[in-house]
Amino acid sequence: MVDSQSILVIGATGRTGLECVRQFAALSPNPFIHAFCRNKSKLSIADQNRCTSIIEGDARSADNLERALADSSATDVILSIGNGDSIKRTDIRTASGKALVQVLKLPAYKKVRTLVISSSGAGSSQIVVGMGIGKLISFHLRHILKDHTDQEAAFYSIRNRTTIVRASALTDNAATGKLVEHGDHEKALTIKTDRADLAAWIVNQICDTDDSLALGRAVNVTGVKK
Ligand SMILES: NC(=O)c1ccc[n+]([C@@H]2O[C@H](COP(=O)([O-])OP(=O)(O)OC[C@H]3O[C@@H](n4cnc5c(N)ncnc54)[C@H](OP(=O)(O)O)[C@@H]3O)[C@@H](O)[C@H]2O)c1
Repeated sequence: MVDSQSILVIGATGRTGLECVRQFAALSPNPFIHAFCRNKSKLSIADQNRCTSIIEGDARSADNLERALADSSATDVILSIGNGDSIKRTDIRTASGKALVQVLKLPAYKKVRTLVISSSGAGSSQIVVGMGIGKLISFHLRHILKDHTDQEAAFYSIRNRTTIVRASALTDNAATGKLVEHGDHEKALTIKTDRADLAAWIVNQICDTDDSLALGRAVNVTGVKK
């Protein structure tokens, strides 16, 4: 199955998007990997070589996304759009989600599956840390969480072919090879998710051939302690 899959990574120059590109490329056999980004020169030559194609465009533009879906013949899309570490008010996640759903509703793309990277505390989930700290974090991140909540809502009409993964605070260089899932209102085991672990979870979801796919679900994940 993997070698007939074509993965379009939207936000491929971002930290999680790029990790997904690298991990898909490391599979043997590996799927076709198409990187969608604003500026291809942000990718190193080695990373460019990992991609079957690189498609430049603006993720807010349904026209740009439709071109990417058509050119890549994508079977699966990963939406990994963000704004670096900014916590300012933004609608980039919502706007790109809405634009993507507009395209995915077209008859030509009705079989395409999407995995949306969202955040703990978005949608029906809560950040539960204890001693009221979860509420403080949620307030601090309120603009991001609203953007992710509205992004998730954009996918409601195609939820049967959408997986939403809500990660705790993303970090790097602390991979343990394992993520754990938790309930929407449950205290998470840890407060951090390593991007390499998240990418591995995503690769497994998209390439796994058994019935464990989280399609149609929103899954809350976090890392484990070393
Ligand atoms: N940070 C956290 O703790 C945390 C926790 C949970 C979930 N998340 C979510 O996880 C996702 C991935 O996070 P990350 O930190 O790995 O992402 P990131 O490094 O901030 O990357 C974001 C990507 O989005 C791209 N992008 C932004 N606007 C775009 C546009 N108009 N058109 C095309 N591409 C655009 C960026 O492109 P450029 O390279 O051109 O800027 C970049 O490739 C985000 O949705 C984030 O909100 C983050």
